[in-house]
Amino acid sequence: MRPGIIEDCSQEIARRFMELTSLVAFDERFYAFSDAELHPESRSSRLMRSASIINCCIMQTNQNHILWRLFPQLSRAWRKLVVAHAFVEEVALEQIAKKMAYIKEIDVTKPENRAPTSILESYLRLKDTDIRDITGMIVDLLLGGSDTITSSMSYMLHNLSRHPEVQDKVYDESLRIQPDHDGKLPHDVAQKATYTSQVIRESLRINPVAIGIGRVLPVDVVMSGYHIPKFTHIVSQNQVACQLPQYFDEPLAFRPERWEKRRYIRSEEHTHEQLVSEKCLSIPFSHGSRVCIAKKVAELDMIVLLLKLCRRYKMEWVGAPKVGMRTVLVHQPDTPIRIKFTERK
Ligand code: HEM
Repeated sequence: MRPGIIEDCSQEIARRFMELTSLVAFDERFYAFSDAELHPESRSSRLMRSASIINCCIMQTNQNHILWRLFPQLSRAWRKLVVAHAFVEEVALEQIAKKMAYIKEIDVTKPENRAPTSILESYLRLKDTDIRDITGMIVDLLLGGSDTITSSMSYMLHNLSRHPEVQDKVYDESLRIQPDHDGKLPHDVAQKATYTSQVIRESLRINPVAIGIGRVLPVDVVMSGYHIPKFTHIVSQNQVACQLPQYFDEPLAFRPERWEKRRYIRSEEHTHEQLVSEKCLSIPFSHGSRVCIAKKVAELDMIVLLLKLCRRYKMEWVGAPKVGMRTVLVHQPDTPIRIKFTERK
């Protein structure tokens, strides 16, 4: 980010995370901020656009069962989805071919080559893994790592830019963790950045990317006295519950301090049940065997970005008075994330 007003931070955030995903997934830089890649028809621009189209069209085709099933080619959303998906798959296959050629070239018994340097390399080194599964995983990474984290981070910057006192606390934490101005953050930054983690948790409580968790019940279940037969598709309403006063004091207030660990050890204000339900209601990365596979990477990326931004800048909200949400599979801000960045003295 540069000093001054940024008209829509979401665009910059999306590029930054595209770059990080390519590093983690392929150990390759996309140079998403280079002049060539900023072009609307470049690989990174098309990837980001395709991911958004896919998210949007999945929602539309899901809601339009009859058209989708009987005459898929007549559905505009379905046609757009196919084209966008083909592009993401093309990028995935290109990266897989490149990495396979690289693995063939290197001597994996040499100490410097023993550890894989990317997620893709780890998959390709696994024995008996179907290449179609690997392609599916890489496509999922490119799709899952785009709108989710961009939207989460956009809301986070919005919340922070409206709360200078929270920014100052993140700034203080960055000074504690990294006392010299130009030094690198330590490898255990995620454990050390306790307050910044609370900021992330609080922002994801108020502005989660998903309504809740969707599952098809494998067995009959009784919930609150209602019998729900097996094979029913249910969606838990965590987002709604996170905004109810019976679970969170002043639920719409942005208060990272509510996630302080010590509150959960001893508290006279809340019953044990209240505290446990608070913790279990806010599960932005989901829970269980299908939990977000990139939870730790995403949290680390967001911690680093927040620490670096608050270290350098003061942020001030200069956008629309109210930021709502639109739902295109994941929730997104319904207005540009317009923020003024001023260098800290
Ligand atoms: C703040 C950022 C993110 C949030 C809030 C988030 C949230 C979620 C949620 C709620 C799910 C659904 C899990 C379920 O159905 O139980 C999910 C799944 C998934 N996420 Fe994330 N995600 C984030 C970032 C990322 C990133 C950066 C990547 C990839 C680089 C990613 C890749 C995936 C994949 C591949 C799945 C599917 C896992 C499966 O079905 O087994 N996510 N994520």
